[in-house]
Amino acid sequence: MNTIPSTKTIPAVPGLPYFGSLGAFQRDPLAYSLQVIEKYGDLARITIVGGESIFVSHPDAVQHILQTNSRNYNKQALDYQMLYPLVGQGLLTSDGETWLRQRRLMQPAFHRQRIAALGEMMVGETLAMLERWQPGVGRGQALAIDQEMMRLTLTIVGKALLSVDLGAEASQFGQAFKQANARFGFGNIFSILLPWLPTRANRQFKSALQVMDSLVTEIIAQRRAHPAAHDDLLSMLLQARDEQTGQGMSDRQLRDELMTILLAGHETTANALTWTFYLLSQHPQEAASLSEEVQRVLGDRPPAVDDLPRLPYTRMVFQEALRLYPPAWSIARRAIQDDELAGYPIPAGSVIHIILYALHRHPRLWEAPHEFRPLRFTEDEVERRHKFAYLPFSTGPRKCIGDYFAMTEGQLILATVAQRYRLALAQGQRVGTAPLITLNPRYGMRMLPERIVGAST
Ligand code: HEM
Repeated sequence: MNTIPSTKTIPAVPGLPYFGSLGAFQRDPLAYSLQVIEKYGDLARITIVGGESIFVSHPDAVQHILQTNSRNYNKQALDYQMLYPLVGQGLLTSDGETWLRQRRLMQPAFHRQRIAALGEMMVGETLAMLERWQPGVGRGQALAIDQEMMRLTLTIVGKALLSVDLGAEASQFGQAFKQANARFGFGNIFSILLPWLPTRANRQFKSALQVMDSLVTEIIAQRRAHPAAHDDLLSMLLQARDEQTGQGMSDRQLRDELMTILLAGHETTANALTWTFYLLSQHPQEAASLSEEVQRVLGDRPPAVDDLPRLPYTRMVFQEALRLYPPAWSIARRAIQDDELAGYPIPAGSVIHIILYALHRHPRLWEAPHEFRPLRFTEDEVERRHKFAYLPFSTGPRKCIGDYFAMTEGQLILATVAQRYRLALAQGQRVGTAPLITLNPRYGMRMLPERIVGAST
């Protein structure tokens, strides 16, 4: 299959002078990206507020940018620059030597064996959440599942990597993050582009940032005061010394890394799980298959990491949710030097967008692309597909450092909940997408937990 046209100019999407396609993109960036593929193909030039971007949706071209020639592409794009106030020059947003040094330093904290050892805590926190649900169950009380998942994943990432508990009732950090995140909608594009404007969105963002900053500073100060007794990512960061100068990491760098891990490590997984529960609520047969698997394999006992290979349907449900609603819905890059992509010249400085949401629903790569079909992820099906058609964690050197963490956590939480509950969408709950830093449910996700008959406690 080759859908890339052979002429030498990448088709340009027509739009208004200067503003370009802002209107259509702002209204619904996800639907718009799919329309671009339909109308203009797998490479298209789009202008938004004076800036041009090349939308890339062919898996060969994606492979070239993220893997084969990844050295020629950095993260100097507005998408990451707008995150600087939050995560500074942490692992997600930095480039070059700074990035490489930090990645090498942090990689051991994400070793499979270390993550496997966290399984019990992940399941324990999930069971504690289900305990909190208990009093309302059977009384028609709906729960904000999106908030429940945020709290759970924030607790898990805080305990796992920093040995702190951030999930306490109405966690300050979680609330502040929610407030900060709200600014990143396209409706606030001018507040993002002009952060000094005293708009409501900018003022709220600033005050949320202060709360988050002081919490992270406090975590660092506490650990510096009592350095012993923890073997976690925070210790690794604190103990790291520059090979040449012997200096430790500056407080600024530490703050940036902690903020990065807390943000990248909780919102993504929480949204993935929220969309998973939503999809299951709309697909009773798949929900029943999932319950059947967890009951058969686990019986009454809670899941453990060792059980995961025997829970393939659970894995496939989570993978399919990550396809339909990829939390990191868009990846951006800037070309450092001139390059060529599928026969087209890519001048140095070009900004590229790989909209994972569109890649994952590409009509020529996926059969019935909008349908929820977990069985797409059997080994045979995966083998048949282009390897770069499905990249929820990206690929190449900048691949998500937390991919194994997230997959383990996602499957364990899903199995633990599915063993005991089926979640039904609350009456009147509207469902829509809000592509912020990650892909959120626009109207939240209120759901009703229904106890599975004969389920374990
Ligand atoms: C379902 C959950 C998750 C998804 C879908 C996801 C997705 C991604 C994607 C697509 C990237 C590449 C971004 C880009 O190139 O612009 C990324 C990077 C990253 N993720 Fe994740 N992520 C998830 C969970 C996590 C977790 C649990 C952690 C940490 C505990 C984490 C930490 C990071 C970091 C630090 C980076 C930057 C890595 C680098 O550039 O070296 N993520 N993630």
